Amino acid sequence: MQYRELGKSGIKASAVGLGAWAIGGWMWGGTEEKESVETIKAAMDAGINLIDTAPVYGFGLSEEIVGRALKGVRERAVLATKCGLVWDREEGEYHFTSDEKAIRGGSGDIKVFKYLSPVSIRSEIEMSLRRIGTDYIDLYQTHWQDATTPVEDTMNELLKLKQEGKIRAIGVSNAGVGHLESYLKTGQIDADQESYSMLDRKREKDNIPYCEKRGIAFLAYSPLARGLLTGKVTPDFVFNDGDHRRDNPLFSRGNRIRVRKMLDELSVFAEKYDASFAQLAVAWTFHQQGCTHALAGARRPGQAMENAKAGDMNFGGEDLAAINKIIDSC
Ligand SMILES: NC(=O)c1ccc[n+]([C@@H]2O[C@H](COP(=O)([O-])OP(=O)(O)OC[C@H]3O[C@@H](n4cnc5c(N)ncnc54)[C@H](OP(=O)(O)O)[C@@H]3O)[C@@H](O)[C@H]2O)c1
Repeated sequence: MQYRELGKSGIKASAVGLGAWAIGGWMWGGTEEKESVETIKAAMDAGINLIDTAPVYGFGLSEEIVGRALKGVRERAVLATKCGLVWDREEGEYHFTSDEKAIRGGSGDIKVFKYLSPVSIRSEIEMSLRRIGTDYIDLYQTHWQDATTPVEDTMNELLKLKQEGKIRAIGVSNAGVGHLESYLKTGQIDADQESYSMLDRKREKDNIPYCEKRGIAFLAYSPLARGLLTGKVTPDFVFNDGDHRRDNPLFSRGNRIRVRKMLDELSVFAEKYDASFAQLAVAWTFHQQGCTHALAGARRPGQAMENAKAGDMNFGGEDLAAINKIIDSC
């Protein structure tokens, strides 16, 4: 496994991280808690130390599961969680309504708000620490940006948490370059977490070069395009009820066929590196200029172990160029 620094924080995090969104069940058609705990343990045993979660993933459940898995090994993990998406109060900027029913005993729609006021951050971190069962977070990230709170106020609160030792590094997510600039005016940020994969390369033009220039780690989320790049989503595969991929245009029949064609063309490289498509996609991600870490979601121990092995892969420059040519042409 390759380990890379999170910005200038001095924290060394595995190039392949484990994303714990699906483990929370919400938007993924539910979760198997025991298997989820085993998945996190398997990831750690395979060299992954970067574990990314958020309060909103399962409305607290993902953080609780991560906490259970880290019992006794907390200090070995680089624990990343987030703040700024709240569902227990209607404050800040309305984000969306989750139509998932019966989550944690709920009986109806849940309204989610983007809210990054100092008071809200303070209460959110206390809840996260309690759910995870720890007294510090390694990387604390603003999950989505809130237009109702000045960035300076948000950042000043995060800097206070850092001084108090509750967090070791500050990160942002779903942020434009303008947001990054505003944060940096007030203090140091060490990571930016954005969507990035073979199928979604928009950030190559803005956030990635911006972060690289300033020594900020770039954490790619959804590097497997939510499973599409693993090759397992056949044209007729039907996702479970409650799984957001069921109606997502990314998973349209036409797109599944298009991506399969791309994977078929890439199979020569999968064979050359003795890698699965999932490993090829994850390794490709953190080999791109300026992209330091790939956060791959997994729900089963075997998936986590497979993805971790991508952390040992080293592409030659010529192969990387040839792979990019195929991606560009599909
Ligand atoms: N900051 C944000 O707003 C944001 C947004 C999205 C994601 N994220 C972070 O990024 C992480 C990863 O993104 P993601 O979960 O959206 O998608 P992803 O990593 O692109 O895909 C994860 C899914 O791919 C499948 N998979 C994983 N490894 C596999 C393997 N080796 N073989 C076959 N299938 C495999 C699993 O699907 P099945 O469940 O079908 O098995 C898994 O749930 C999240 O968990 C979260 O931590 C952050």
